[in-house]
Amino acid sequence: MTEEYVAAEKILAGGMESKEATIRGWLHSRRSGGGILFLLIRDGSGIIQCTAKKDQLPDRLFKELEELPRESTLELSGVVRRDVRSPRGFELTLHDAKIFHRPSEEFPIAMKKHGPDFLLDHRHLWIRSQKMQMIMRARAEMLDAARTWLKSSGYTEAQMPTLITAACEGGSTLFEVKYFDEKAYLTQSWQLYAEAVISSLGRIYTVAPSFRAEKSKTRRHLTEYWHLEVEAPWTDLEGIMKVQEELLTAVCHRLSQTAEHELRTLGRDPEYLRSVGPPFPRLRYDKAIDILREEGLDVDWGVDFGYREERKLAIRFKEPFFVTHFPKGVKAFYHMPDPSKPEVTLSADLLAPEGYGEITGGGQRIHDLDQLLQRVKEEHLDPTAYKWYIDLRRYGTVPHSGFGMGVERTLSWLCKLRHIRDAIPFPRLINRIYP
Ligand code: 4AD
Ligand code: MG
Repeated sequence: MTEEYVAAEKILAGGMESKEATIRGWLHSRRSGGGILFLLIRDGSGIIQCTAKKDQLPDRLFKELEELPRESTLELSGVVRRDVRSPRGFELTLHDAKIFHRPSEEFPIAMKKHGPDFLLDHRHLWIRSQKMQMIMRARAEMLDAARTWLKSSGYTEAQMPTLITAACEGGSTLFEVKYFDEKAYLTQSWQLYAEAVISSLGRIYTVAPSFRAEKSKTRRHLTEYWHLEVEAPWTDLEGIMKVQEELLTAVCHRLSQTAEHELRTLGRDPEYLRSVGPPFPRLRYDKAIDILREEGLDVDWGVDFGYREERKLAIRFKEPFFVTHFPKGVKAFYHMPDPSKPEVTLSADLLAPEGYGEITGGGQRIHDLDQLLQRVKEEHLDPTAYKWYIDLRRYGTVPHSGFGMGVERTLSWLCKLRHIRDAIPFPRLINRIYP
């Protein structure tokens, strides 16, 4: 086994014409015609076409390659040639091949179209598909772009516990776990702990799993999802909305450059993402209700927006937009009531256009001790469960705000996906925890 091998993507990027190269990968597909064998090799970096001519390889090897099943693993050596007919302009003309593993059974995923349940049952294999590969690459770019922007804007990454004892977003969607002799839950959000850590580190962020025991079977709910969360001291509602605008803009612009090929293949025009920029439109909840009524929906002031409402709003916009000042009754206890209209909160959700809907939730937090105690009481929460959280208002409290961005929700919009399950390699859904 040679130690030196190159990534397919390096060859495809150009500059290696006429050079010798060895690659390693999986046989993605194979066809032959006129004494030439075309092998599409997938190696993690990309997919490259390799051609083998009958008269340029030993007979036995050519025959072996000609019958090689899909997803065999192999090492291939040859010369890089420019060929306009090959999918990416360059290919490898083979003079040697070593086979590592030849599957004895046929790859269960055929080249034909399969139904979603079959593909979800075979997710461990389906992730090899070009579609999943492209989404996972775009996902990595998205997170890297976000981290880069946050770091350069003075945010420090910090991690909070996953096993918790007090709900952040209300008790209805908590997963309960046995913690020795105690009851614990899987976290819905890092937020309460993040509010403690801003007094130590200042501006912070995280990228971590959050859990929601959502009974809803929709195209935008996972029970385990990744949460990009930000918390910042000395920041009000408007300030935290600006952070979201700039962060999402940076992500859109980066993807339009470094994931152009992936976006195009997935059906998203990179030009569109390049055109995204602040300020995003801002719509107060009151106004949103008016619009929904104009649209013919029967909505009462004070209700929370579900997908029906969000979708109606989100098809009217061509760019991401905020809905702000939600009523107290639909937001968690920590949201700061608006001093000029205490029945609403200094809250904001960011909605993606084209019918996608909510991708972030957040706003300004209550920093005053008495006001927080009042809200804990109003919501009939157990103050002892929130003792440490309430304590934060006793020692150097400051106005502060934050938000949480659903990684898969955002990626779904960025890549124009039809279902959130494709924004994560192994989705956890109400009726699925395998594989
Ligand atoms: O709006 P949510 O519930 O807000 C919070 O959890 C705040 N504590 C965040 C904060 O201020 N630090 O959730 C935030 C985002 C939503 O906007 C949505 O994008 C995503 O998390 N989200 C989900 N994504 C996939 N599946 C689910 N079941 C989700 N629930 C929320
Ligand atoms: Mg929300």
